[in-house]
Amino acid sequence: MSHILVTGGAGFIGGNFVLNWLANPSADGIVNVDKLTYAGNRKILDAVEHDLRHVFSQTDICDRTSLDCLFAQYKPRAVVHLAAESHVDRSIHGPGEFIQTNIVGTFTLLEAARAYWVTLDGEAKAAFRFLHVSTDEVFGSLGPTDPQTSETAPYAPNSPYSASKAASDHLVRAYFHTYGLPVLTTNCSNNYGPYHFPEKLIPLMIANALSGKPLPVYGDGQNVRDWLYVDDHCSALREVLARGRLGETYNVGGWNEKTNLEVVYALCDLLDQLRPKAAGSYRDQIAFVKDRPGHDRRYAIDARKLERELGWKPAETFETGLLKTVQWYLDNQTWVLDATSRQFGNQVVNQYAA
Ligand code: NAD
Ligand code: TYD
Repeated sequence: MSHILVTGGAGFIGGNFVLNWLANPSADGIVNVDKLTYAGNRKILDAVEHDLRHVFSQTDICDRTSLDCLFAQYKPRAVVHLAAESHVDRSIHGPGEFIQTNIVGTFTLLEAARAYWVTLDGEAKAAFRFLHVSTDEVFGSLGPTDPQTSETAPYAPNSPYSASKAASDHLVRAYFHTYGLPVLTTNCSNNYGPYHFPEKLIPLMIANALSGKPLPVYGDGQNVRDWLYVDDHCSALREVLARGRLGETYNVGGWNEKTNLEVVYALCDLLDQLRPKAAGSYRDQIAFVKDRPGHDRRYAIDARKLERELGWKPAETFETGLLKTVQWYLDNQTWVLDATSRQFGNQVVNQYAA
């Protein structure tokens, strides 16, 4: 059986990617490489537990020996690299893990992939791909009237998270130019959807709303993010993997720029409809708290290259995606409890409280 090697496949986007990929009965198998940090949860993969096309390996991407064994054993035709430390607030309070996984880990994976790739012959060598999944945060903060960021915008990362992702993007680029490794990079905006760990804005607000806790909005709530439903990100990754031009970077975005307050209002309004409180609105729980240090004001992505070259467009609007997401969290509260009770440090969410 032919395989692809996916890193971070027990995380939010990686887990959704694995489910999305294996939903196609004729898809290649997946070797799922994940360290299972606090953010990794094998329960995301329950639906494919008995699927023989899915092989799970609890492995750190910094562990070169184990990576070499996995490449030698499964001979993947591609790598889809999603493993990362991903939460900006955590990167502010403990940047070390971000440097280790996002920079050293990506370097180690690139080295293992290169060592394997040079042993391939002819067609297998030409067909091999290394798809690096990155973020729009590497481009830094935009002003309110700046045009959306295109692929040619200069890098200007402002948090330890985005700086570590920027470094990994540069390494991937260098491996293409120096060694000819057939790489592709995507830079995506904020994702949302099922299995999102409840330390990020949308799942945190839903979880806090339902448990009667405050909804902590940083600063004035006017920071802008572009939101993309996670399945749309997965379909973009499939397209880029299948048909992207080697060495190119592709922006992925949802054309959904919203202030954080708009997002929180929309969540409260949906919950008011779907799970009304005995009295009042969920909006009553909103609490403005101290701002995140160095908080980027606006991210906005220009995803026209991906549409022009590969015909990709998001299938969900913000309204349809958010409804699906809220409904999923209402139907899967045991998943949220499990994810949070295992390792979730509340100190991270609450530390900007005024
Ligand atoms: P996540 O934090 O939910 O999941 C990360 C996964 O990586 C977890 O399963 C974790 O166990 C695993 N992991 C962490 N360190 C590892 C290591 N050293 N070795 C092996 N596995 C390790 O992250 P996510 O939100 O799913 O993001 C996935 C990727 O997409 C990241 O590279 C992130 O930078 C990028 N991205 C995320 C967003 C977003 O909105 N979440 C947007 C654009 C890009
Ligand atoms: P987050 O989901 O952490 O993603 P990112 O920082 O990678 O964009 O945060 C999204 C936005 O929501 C960001 O501007 C910070 C803000 N935010 C809050 O206002 N309150 C919160 O409790 C969290 C987690 C985030």
